[in-house]
Amino acid sequence: MNHAVVLKTAEEIEAMRVAGQQAASVLRMIREHVQPGVTTGKLDELCHAFIVDELKAVPAPLNYRGFPKSICTSVNHVICHGIPGDKVLKDGDIVNIDITVIKDGWHGDTSKMFLVGEPSVKARRICDVAHQALITGIEMVRPGVTLGDIGHAIQTYAESQRCSVVREYCGHGIGRVFHEPPQVLHYGKPGTGLTLKAGMTFTIEPMVNLGKPDTRLLPDQWTVITRDRSLSAQWEHTLAVTDHGVDVLTRLPDDPL
Ligand code: MF3
Ligand code: CO
Ligand code: CO
Repeated sequence: MNHAVVLKTAEEIEAMRVAGQQAASVLRMIREHVQPGVTTGKLDELCHAFIVDELKAVPAPLNYRGFPKSICTSVNHVICHGIPGDKVLKDGDIVNIDITVIKDGWHGDTSKMFLVGEPSVKARRICDVAHQALITGIEMVRPGVTLGDIGHAIQTYAESQRCSVVREYCGHGIGRVFHEPPQVLHYGKPGTGLTLKAGMTFTIEPMVNLGKPDTRLLPDQWTVITRDRSLSAQWEHTLAVTDHGVDVLTRLPDDPL
């Protein structure tokens, strides 16, 4: 196992931007299809076809460590890694769609929450808190900051909203490899852990629960749920550390952060 964090060149980051923009374009494409009555399996089929036929790219999850589908769909109390299938989305659901594409050998990884019909106030709130948790993390990123600083900022924000941060799953270095060092925890202590340098590329993808942080893995060995069945939300971007700050590789030009 190699634990070294590999810095990317400017050219490599441009190649990652292509993959990142493609992944974001899949979320843009699928938006109108996320409606009451659609199955998560149908969403997977639409994304698979778009990634392969339109983008001429590869859906990274498919067959990754045995994962059977091309995207992850995580509904309500599912935290992450939900497997698309026969589940029918209904009015009031919240669903995370997580897209990772490989283009010219480089990965782009991004996810967001979609509201199905008209979710409750608390469902909308967990989506908003998780989004703001991601923004809080991204705004910390610049050379000299540590991963502990980022985790601490995310955790402090989420807990200030009386929500909790999942511990067992984290962000990750990304490049030619889907999940590479470093691990990017969404909790931590200021001044601890790896110090950021220009050229690092990684994801931030906080999973935030309305109830307790504890997780449970379902027997399918992929689907992660909240132990207390409380609602959970997650948003993810792929980032590069620049000389003076951060470059969000999966943000489309007309998308606010
Ligand atoms: N896209 C997820 C992440 O953010 C990983 C999914 S792995 C899979 O890291 F196998 F479940 F697809
Ligand atoms: Co990721
Ligand atoms: Co992802």
